[in-house]
Amino acid sequence: MRETRQTDGASPPDGFHRGIRSYVLRSGRLSAAQRRAYDAWFPRYRVPFSAAIADYPALFGNSRPVTVEIGFGMGTATARIARENPDRNYLGIEVYKPGIGRLLREIERDSLENIRIVEHDAVETLERMIGDGSTAAFHIFFPDPWPKKRHHKRRLVTRPFTGLLADKLRPGGYIYLVTDSEDYAGWALAELSATAKLRNPYAAGRSEAAGFAPPLPWRPRTEFEAKGLAKGHKIWELYFVKDT
Ligand SMILES: C[S@@+](CC[C@H](N)C(=O)[O-])C[C@H]1O[C@@H](n2cnc3c(N)ncnc32)[C@H](O)[C@@H]1O
Repeated sequence: MRETRQTDGASPPDGFHRGIRSYVLRSGRLSAAQRRAYDAWFPRYRVPFSAAIADYPALFGNSRPVTVEIGFGMGTATARIARENPDRNYLGIEVYKPGIGRLLREIERDSLENIRIVEHDAVETLERMIGDGSTAAFHIFFPDPWPKKRHHKRRLVTRPFTGLLADKLRPGGYIYLVTDSEDYAGWALAELSATAKLRNPYAAGRSEAAGFAPPLPWRPRTEFEAKGLAKGHKIWELYFVKDT
């Protein structure tokens, strides 16, 4: 619930607007099963937040490409993507404890060895822990839309943070963002399009949907997406690549 923050008590972070977070910590309680999974399995799958750059091969025990997912919520899509892609690794970043407990239940149930979790602000995590040119992809599914104008400064997919995403990607890497907010979709399209090193393969065209990607067939429906669809919302997809 804090409006202000400093990363180390001395200097404000430089990748985001000073002192503003893209989330408000929800106070949801863990179910008994989530609590059990959190206590039993988080020590094994957790990557503690630290000021040191994460060593991906050491974390995962192999050198497979790493996708970072920001704000995985309850993690159902994360678990399914990881299950279907054992040749890739997934680092999920989330601050919502019940969601972490929920994802750990799936990790346990299906013995998913290609997922690790950071419980911390994604902005600081990228700034401190993710190496430049290290990451194969970023998944950002249904980021908090912050619809009110006075809250737009909280929107995650905003420069200069989008520049940080680009810096962390390796050549050939991609950013895949999905939202059910038309306003946020247009905002994110403008921010990502104005970010150096990123290219939108779907930029051409004059239709209303110009700039947006077709749905990628392998992406599972997320919990927030189901809620948006139930309200009749349209889904907007953005896919940007870093060529070199
Ligand atoms: C609207 S929910 C979507 C969750 C999930 N991706 C889905 O589609 O069901 C956004 C999630 O992003 C998380 N989040 C937002 N900003 C974050 C940040 N800076 N660091 C970590 N998690 C963040 C929130 O805690 C929340 O769970």
